[in-house]
Amino acid sequence: MINNKTIEKFREIETPFYYYDLDVLRSTLDVVKKESENSGYKVHYAVKANSNPRILKIISSYGFGADCVSWNEIAAAIKAGFSPSEIVFAGVGKTDKDIGAALKEDIFCFNCESLQEIEVIDQLASKQKKTARIALRINPYIEAHTHKYITTGIEESKFGINTWELEEVIKRLPSLKNIRLIGMHFHIGSQITRMSVFKSLCARINELQIWFSSRSIDLKIINVGGGFGIDYENPDKSPLFEDYFSLLNEFIDLLPGQTLHMEPGRSIIGQCGSLISRVLFIKNGSNTLFAIIDAGMTDLIRPALYQAHHKIENLTSAGNIYRYDVVGPVCESSDTFAKHIELPETRRGDIIAIRSAGAYGEAMASRYNLRDLPPSVFSDDL
Ligand SMILES: Cc1ncc(COP(=O)(O)O)c(C=O)c1O
Repeated sequence: MINNKTIEKFREIETPFYYYDLDVLRSTLDVVKKESENSGYKVHYAVKANSNPRILKIISSYGFGADCVSWNEIAAAIKAGFSPSEIVFAGVGKTDKDIGAALKEDIFCFNCESLQEIEVIDQLASKQKKTARIALRINPYIEAHTHKYITTGIEESKFGINTWELEEVIKRLPSLKNIRLIGMHFHIGSQITRMSVFKSLCARINELQIWFSSRSIDLKIINVGGGFGIDYENPDKSPLFEDYFSLLNEFIDLLPGQTLHMEPGRSIIGQCGSLISRVLFIKNGSNTLFAIIDAGMTDLIRPALYQAHHKIENLTSAGNIYRYDVVGPVCESSDTFAKHIELPETRRGDIIAIRSAGAYGEAMASRYNLRDLPPSVFSDDL
């Protein structure tokens, strides 16, 4: 809920901007910390969801690790206080430069997606006289039932090592002297709301555990990735981490000495952020009313990219209800935040909140049309 006092403050601030309710973030982090401590799981926050330095600092203060997909993310995480010894590095296309820099920092683990990548890491580690810890990102062929662009663990995905390639990888590993295999890694997609999907992942992991054990390969970590979804229709509802942790507890068979790792992004940061915008113009279309706002797809690309739904609120009107298409100013028809949604009568100057925008919002902002990047405003400062 964005309260009236906050709305009054918004009136004085130039739009568009991202607003982060840090109380919401802290209460989410409290729950994740409690659940992870109770279960003995290790959390690596997925920095790609939101790499705002102040957000990273708050998250690192909870003692979590970080999941990064580029050297720049690793550097940002370290700067914000995450320990390199708790940073994992994922990505299907890691560059030599990024791998080299990550090796210098002795990060915890490279989540590897192909044999060729492992060979390159071995060569680069050898140059630095280091041993790189790796986990194999395995494609478990599980349909995540989410948008196809954020489905990452099915047969046609570019991500992960196919199970039919595992034998070859395992055979090759002993000759790679600067590599130490420590675990398995998975990430089957994002914004997953069907818990049965995670149950299927657990079953697949248990099968793979048997496969590795039968070859006397001892794995210390099982990393289930991220993907736990949020309720975009109810932005004031926190994700039910208790359910997620208890499902993992119940369905993954960890072996003695193994630790479960996870990489939540959206579920940690999604609900605490809103994109705040002003209405520029109201325009009649042939069969709709357009509310043209000063935020665009450059500030929040998710609706244009994934047809994503965000709840939109007019914070400054309580008039009669009308239907609007809420659109941005960018010269692309996909620069549309919502179609035919009900809002109280909306006028030029009204303040609009696009809710649940904390994850993959600011982090994906661009300067297309040479628009300014959206600044961030924090509840603690108002
Ligand atoms: C490897 C990996 N881990 C974790 C995440 C975080 O996912 P989410 O934000 O859905 O929790 C992603 C995001 O796509 C990812 O690619």
